[in-house]
Amino acid sequence: MTQAWKELAETIPYRLAPSMAKDHPNLPVLKEEGCYYYGVDGKKYLDFTSGIAVTNVGHRHPKIVKAIKEEADRFTHGPIGVIQYESILKLANELAEIMPGDLDCFFFGNSGTEAVEGALKLARHVTERPYVISFIGCFHGRTLGSLGVSTSKGKYRKHQPAQAATYQIPYYTPGDSEEEAITKLEQSFQTLFAHQVSPEEIACMIIEPVLGEGGYIVPPTAWLKRIREICDEHGILLIFDEVQTGFGRTGEWFAAQSFNVIPDIMAVAKGIASGLPLSATVANHKLMQRWPLGSHATTFGGNPIACAAARATLQIIKEEELLNNVKEVGSYAQEKLFTLQKRWPQIGAVRNLGMMFGIEIIDPVSGEKDGETAAKILDLALEEGVLFYFCGNEGEVLRMIPPLTITKEEIDEGITKLTKAFERLT
Ligand SMILES: Cc1ncc(COP(=O)(O)O)c(C=O)c1O
Repeated sequence: MTQAWKELAETIPYRLAPSMAKDHPNLPVLKEEGCYYYGVDGKKYLDFTSGIAVTNVGHRHPKIVKAIKEEADRFTHGPIGVIQYESILKLANELAEIMPGDLDCFFFGNSGTEAVEGALKLARHVTERPYVISFIGCFHGRTLGSLGVSTSKGKYRKHQPAQAATYQIPYYTPGDSEEEAITKLEQSFQTLFAHQVSPEEIACMIIEPVLGEGGYIVPPTAWLKRIREICDEHGILLIFDEVQTGFGRTGEWFAAQSFNVIPDIMAVAKGIASGLPLSATVANHKLMQRWPLGSHATTFGGNPIACAAARATLQIIKEEELLNNVKEVGSYAQEKLFTLQKRWPQIGAVRNLGMMFGIEIIDPVSGEKDGETAAKILDLALEEGVLFYFCGNEGEVLRMIPPLTITKEEIDEGITKLTKAFERLT
């Protein structure tokens, strides 16, 4: 541990709320760069978390740092509406080029949950319908509106009565065939529409096209397409929460393009600006024009420095051909993880789309989800020098989301360290 950090730790009272600052692994770090964190213990840690799917182009990419510095020489704050500035106007146009379908109009906010809240408000406003459907296990954020549709973990809602105007139906169950999945889906809708809410009262359905926090579950394309059709049959707007799946993570710009299912509204954040706070609620121009001035607004949303970082992010993803890298290195990593699964009975499943991997940990005897062992593996992997994160209702899934710039050599390094962690399991 460096002397400076030691003094800091010993002399400064710890004043961060545990709910924000006691997550795993809580690693004291001096610097971040590329795919690595540099710990205060002098060790270099390979980062397979990308700051939870944020630094898709790697930590502190030189072009991001440059864009931030240059923009800070001109602006630190908008606010858009009061003034207009180049970075936000250009960003909206550049984003429109990579968005699925005709989604080309943007309300910029600061976080994923804000983008989700914007999407829900927009859908209710334009349909003039009150109710929302979400899918069990999905995570959409922690502010009260988003919490009303988030069901990845019950603890998020403890003592927080969720908004009454939402209904939940089950997500795709891993292992179900396409046919079984669609039959179950249709049954869920039939029951919901017959007993709880009529479809013409529903403004929108919101879904994570790949279940993230809920355990990294990739549904079949046909299942998502059927949801799209059901929305169309009843004039219900479809919202994709692509906060985690966006900006190249799946091997396309967005999961919507990976599945070829186009939503009416999207929520994007995380990877958009490589770590600066920025998000967007996205819809087509026609829909957005029906959400008039004053219906929704923001002080900080679309901050000029964050917009400059977002423009640089898009440029890097294109110039460095990161979508191709995700496909190529993603399938390389998938093979490696399948090999690991053959060796270790604790690995119940390896699930992925592009560069988002879930490694499900089970009890080899009972086959039950095993969050406790998953936590041990995370700790041991950290000791070996690689950071994974977790997900799944019981924390039973090791979440592996390296920067999209990752090389095959770095994948090898991380998986070798993970293997050592498995070898040390007692
Ligand atoms: C799919 C999804 N939606 C929404 C959110 C909320 O984003 P934020 O933490 O930026 O509010 C997250 C965060 O993990 C997420 O993964």
